[in-house]
Amino acid sequence: MELSPLPIHRRLQIVFFTLLSSAVLLHPILTALLHLLTAHLLLTTATTLSAAVLLLLHLRSRPHPVLLLNYSCFQPPVHRKCTFEFANNFVLSPGRFTNPEPVEFMRNIYLKSGLGDETYGPPFMFEETQTPSLRNTLQETMEGVFATVDSVLSKTGVSRDEIDVVIVTCGGFSPEPSVSSLIVNRYNLRSDVKTYNLSGMGCSSGVLSVDLAHRILRGGGRKVRNALVVMTESITLNWYDGEERSMLVTNCIFRVGCAAAIITNDPSRRASAKMELIHSLRTHHGADDSAYRAAIQEEDNKGITGISLTKDLIRVASVSLREHIKILAPRVLPLSQLVRYVYSVLAMAMSSTGDLKPIVPDFTTAFEHICVHTGGKAVISQVGRVMKFSDSVTEPARMTLNRFGNTSSSLVFYELAYFEAKKRVKKGDKMWMIAFGTGFKVGSLVWKWVKDPESEPESDNPWNDSIHRYPLKTW
Ligand SMILES: *[C@@H]1O[C@H](CO)[C@@H](O)[C@H](O)[C@H]1NC(C)=O
Ligand SMILES: *[C@@H]1O[C@H](CO)[C@@H](O)[C@H](O)[C@H]1NC(C)=O
Ligand SMILES: *[C@@H]1O[C@H](CO)[C@@H](O)[C@H](O)[C@H]1NC(C)=O
Ligand SMILES: *[C@@H]1O[C@H](CO)[C@@H](O)[C@H](O)[C@H]1NC(C)=O
Repeated sequence: MELSPLPIHRRLQIVFFTLLSSAVLLHPILTALLHLLTAHLLLTTATTLSAAVLLLLHLRSRPHPVLLLNYSCFQPPVHRKCTFEFANNFVLSPGRFTNPEPVEFMRNIYLKSGLGDETYGPPFMFEETQTPSLRNTLQETMEGVFATVDSVLSKTGVSRDEIDVVIVTCGGFSPEPSVSSLIVNRYNLRSDVKTYNLSGMGCSSGVLSVDLAHRILRGGGRKVRNALVVMTESITLNWYDGEERSMLVTNCIFRVGCAAAIITNDPSRRASAKMELIHSLRTHHGADDSAYRAAIQEEDNKGITGISLTKDLIRVASVSLREHIKILAPRVLPLSQLVRYVYSVLAMAMSSTGDLKPIVPDFTTAFEHICVHTGGKAVISQVGRVMKFSDSVTEPARMTLNRFGNTSSSLVFYELAYFEAKKRVKKGDKMWMIAFGTGFKVGSLVWKWVKDPESEPESDNPWNDSIHRYPLKTW
């Protein structure tokens, strides 16, 4: 049976009552929904707000990226070049050495040292009396420090008022007032500037003073923005006139050098910075007696002071290096290398015979460039052996030793300048600086290039007059 369609008014009635009843029925549900919606809105706002606050707090407490704005290396005047012939005449000058043995010994060391004919001697060697004194020691210090600080301030445009921290490292010479006071005085720095002068740390102290700047600036926030780091060594007073062989070595390889850098945590300067410091690490191996005594200042049996480099130095350097990279490896290595490394350490721990050595991970997979700081030929070769570096990896270290000699703390920056002069770096590249020093200490810095270098060569790069002759074919 078919139903007849409802009349129109009936239909309207039904629609009206349905709407009405559903409104009455739905009201509490709608209200509840509305409440929920409001609550939800409030909640989301609150969550977003608190998330923003947390993020802000996190950002504020997060370590600030630490950047190297720019640096400068000292290039002494041409007339201070110390050729083999000059050095030979210097030691032969009347009254200096009475016996032929030490002279012969130094000649042999010099010829095997890997130093070329263009390193720079300290001012006193070029004076008429050729006698080390406090005056010419200070002269050596001031020449390098003032030249590099002048240059780095003008390059970076950082003014004297903007310098919050000064860190100076000078291994063997600590005058009174200190070299850091000398800088405060010369550059008329603020009275609330914080100064540190580090001494007695040998070659590693350049890397360690940047590590100190890193620690200060990372937590510094807005209060501490810019650090001036100066790395030098005064070799005048290290000259040794005695006959003890282990102390004569330093006469042959120490040379004049100084570097200065501006390190900052100011994010607004990121665009003009050279590199970001992504890791720094220092390890101390001095608890071991042979490590402590490997390079040490003392008096010989005639009472003449000198720095004695023991035969053990090379062994100590390689043992300390192995301990150092154990800590560094997990922080820097890519996963695949790390897995292999951990596996080899485990295998060693489980081997009953104990004759397994953990593999040395391939650090060239973590870094595009490596500045192996080493004060001498033997140490460079040893680092190359331990780390299984090819000759091309140690090339900058060998060439820097040839051109500038062992300039101690500043040497890694002369190596950095070598990479730049050779145009080997580009944005995103990682660079590892590693240095050893008395104590015995090992220091590492890992940098990342934040921008491509200028196409124009830097006019005051210390290699500016000699880079075309390097690398040497035989070394
Ligand atoms: C620097 O070291 C000297 C000792 O060589 C010390 O007398 C001086 O107080 C130190 N100065 C600063 C600012 O650390
Ligand atoms: C550093 O200084 C050099 C020389 O003045 C300049 O060419 C360069 O642009 C500066 N900045 C960086 C990031 O290299
Ligand atoms: C290089 O010179 C520094 C001091 O200037 C010294 O401590 C270090 O032992 C030297 N390195 C070598 C390998 O002779
Ligand atoms: C090389 O740099 C030095 C300063 O370190 C500067 O005096 C010299 O003029 C520069 N030479 C060239 C050819 O640019």
